[in-house]
Amino acid sequence: MDLAQLTSDLNALRDRASSAAVSAPDTAALDVIELDVLGKKGELTAILRGIGALPAEDRPRVGAIANEVRIAVEAAIGLARAQLGSAELATRLTAETVDVTTPGRPIRRGSLHPIVETARKIADVFAQFGFVVYEGPEVEDDVTNFQMLNIPPDHPARDLWDTLYLDMEGRLLRTHTSPGQIRVMHQERPPIRALLPGRCFRYEAVDASHASEFFQVEGLMIDEGTSMADLKGLLDQFAHAMFGAGRATRFRPGYYPFTEPSVAFDILCVICNGEKCPACSRTGWMTILGAGMVHPVVLRYGGIDPERYQGFAFGMGVERIANLRHAVGDLRQYMEDDLRFLGAFR
Ligand code: PHE
Repeated sequence: MDLAQLTSDLNALRDRASSAAVSAPDTAALDVIELDVLGKKGELTAILRGIGALPAEDRPRVGAIANEVRIAVEAAIGLARAQLGSAELATRLTAETVDVTTPGRPIRRGSLHPIVETARKIADVFAQFGFVVYEGPEVEDDVTNFQMLNIPPDHPARDLWDTLYLDMEGRLLRTHTSPGQIRVMHQERPPIRALLPGRCFRYEAVDASHASEFFQVEGLMIDEGTSMADLKGLLDQFAHAMFGAGRATRFRPGYYPFTEPSVAFDILCVICNGEKCPACSRTGWMTILGAGMVHPVVLRYGGIDPERYQGFAFGMGVERIANLRHAVGDLRQYMEDDLRFLGAFR
C-alpha cells in the first residue's frame, strides 16, 4: 500500500459516496450510506487502516485527505437529507390534510337531576309570589330542629322525626326543612316570604315511598294579617301551576306541633281524577304537603311578636311532587344514579 494508492482509494470513495447520496431515494437510504461510509466499521475507517504501512512522513498527508473526504461526504449527505426531508414533508402535508369542514362529533348533553329540576320548578312558581330562596344547614341542632318548633325533648311527635344523632351536644341530621323557619325569622324582619329547599334525613325503613334521605321545600310567610285564606289561595295557585289549571284541591285537618291549626293539602288524584284508584289508596285524593298557621310559640322563639304578626308555613316532599309529575313509582330510583333512568328526563 503506497501513498498514491491510498489517495486514489480515498478520492474514489468520496466520488462514489457523494453520487450515492445525490441519488438516494429517501432519508432512510441516506442513513445507510452514512453508516457504511463514515461509521465506525465503515469504508473510510477501513481505508485508513492502511496508513500504518506508510512511511511516517506520508501519514499526515493521507490524514488530511481523509479528513477532506469525510467533510465532503458529510456535506453531500447533509444536502441530500435537506432536500429529501422537505420533499417528504411536502408529501406528508398533502397526504395528511385535515378537513376542517367535516362535521364534529356531537357532544352528549347532560340534564338536571329530576329532583333538582322539580325543586327549581317549585321555586319558580313561588318566586312569582315574591318568595325568596334561603338555605339552612343539613347538620342541625336539637334546639332548632325540634325545641323551637314546639317539639320538646319528651314530645311523642319525636317518633315521627327520628334521625341520626351526631354527638352528645344535640347535633343531628335535620329531619325536615322546618328549622329553616327559625333561622329565617332570626335573620329577617317581617314581612317575610321565604322558600327553603334542601336535603333531609330520617331513621326510616326504606321502601318504594320511604327513604332515609330525601328533599323538602319549606315555605314561610309572615306579615300583619296573614290568614289561612292567603295560605289556601297560594297553595291553589301552586297546585294549578304544577298539575294543571283545573286541578281541584282541598284542605284536610292535620297535626304538626309547630302550626296551629294544621292541615294536609290534597289535590284530586292525578291518575283517576277522583274515581278512586290504587294510586290514591281509593280515596280519590293525593296529599302533596303539610301546612298550617305558624304556632305563636314558634313565632316567639323566632323573635317575632305573635300579637302583631301572623304567618303560615308549608312543607312538601320533592320526590313526591316529582313522582306525580313524571309518573315515577319508586323513589329509590332517584338515588340509584342509573343513567337509563336519569336520561329519561332529558
Ligand atoms: N315539617 C313537616 C314535615 O316534615 C311539614 C310541615 C312544614 C308542616 C311546615 C307544616 C308546616 O312533615
